[in-house]
Amino acid sequence: MPARILAVANQKGGVGKTTTAINLASALALAGQRVLVVDLDPQANLTSGVGLKGQTAPGGTVYHALTADVGDGRQFVLATNVQGLSLVPADRNLTGAEVELVTLPEREARMRSLLAGLRDGFDYIFIDTPPSLGLLTLNALVAADAVLIPLNCEYFALEGLADLVSTLRRVRASLNPSLDIAGVLLTMHDERTNLGQQVARDIRAFFQDRVYQTVIPRNIRLGEAPSHGVPAVLYDAKSKGAEAYTALARELLAREAAAPREQHHG
Ligand SMILES: Nc1ncnc2c1ncn2[C@@H]1O[C@H](COP(=O)(O)OP(=O)(O)O)[C@@H](O)[C@H]1O
Ligand SMILES: [Mg+2]
Repeated sequence: MPARILAVANQKGGVGKTTTAINLASALALAGQRVLVVDLDPQANLTSGVGLKGQTAPGGTVYHALTADVGDGRQFVLATNVQGLSLVPADRNLTGAEVELVTLPEREARMRSLLAGLRDGFDYIFIDTPPSLGLLTLNALVAADAVLIPLNCEYFALEGLADLVSTLRRVRASLNPSLDIAGVLLTMHDERTNLGQQVARDIRAFFQDRVYQTVIPRNIRLGEAPSHGVPAVLYDAKSKGAEAYTALARELLAREAAAPREQHHG
């Protein structure tokens, strides 16, 4: 079965998109899944978070994969130090892609084309997106089967979400009718504060069973791991943050087993 493609998206920065992409993907890889992560943020935090900052695949980076004629997509894939985890890396060039894509044919569907040639080799593909709803994020949403939305448990968590929801609606109406919400993930949760608990309750009231049972706590190891270029689930597997992402991987696999996926486009 071709890979399930999940876009990790929320146009707010600092909500845990990249941390989620790295650690959920790594936890799934450690559980024996074949996983590809695609870094689609010009800040390239995901690429450095797996220790491959500045590295280029034989074909180049995701920038080249999106803006040139792709050919074989495998030339953009790098192995990582995590067994079973591969990466399409990003670098600063990607900043220009947002503008360059505008004049290219199929400008919203270029990621989908790239992944069409890759999805047979993986079980899961995660796309980490930048904090905006521009063409890069649009490419991720058009390529994806479903979107995973991290929300940090802070007062303004739901603010701006209407924009994301209307973007999802727009993508469904045109380029990707089967785009689904995979789940909403509560991140940076501080159970000691009433605010954190209140916000978590509000988000569950709003999104109901779309919200993953697993909650990611605020945990210093999740913040430290990227500077060592190692996913937190390996850097300190016993930390609360790593345990939460491992639990999330289990929850995701269990959900899939309970509701076998349909065959989508691609
Ligand atoms: N649960 C967490 N606890 C503590 N720090 C976190 C947590 N999740 C992410 N961080 C840190 O917060 C910052 C923003 O997270 P990041 O995943 O980069 O967000 P985004 O990709 O949405 O901008 C990073 O420095 C990251 O290491
Ligand atoms: Mg990020």
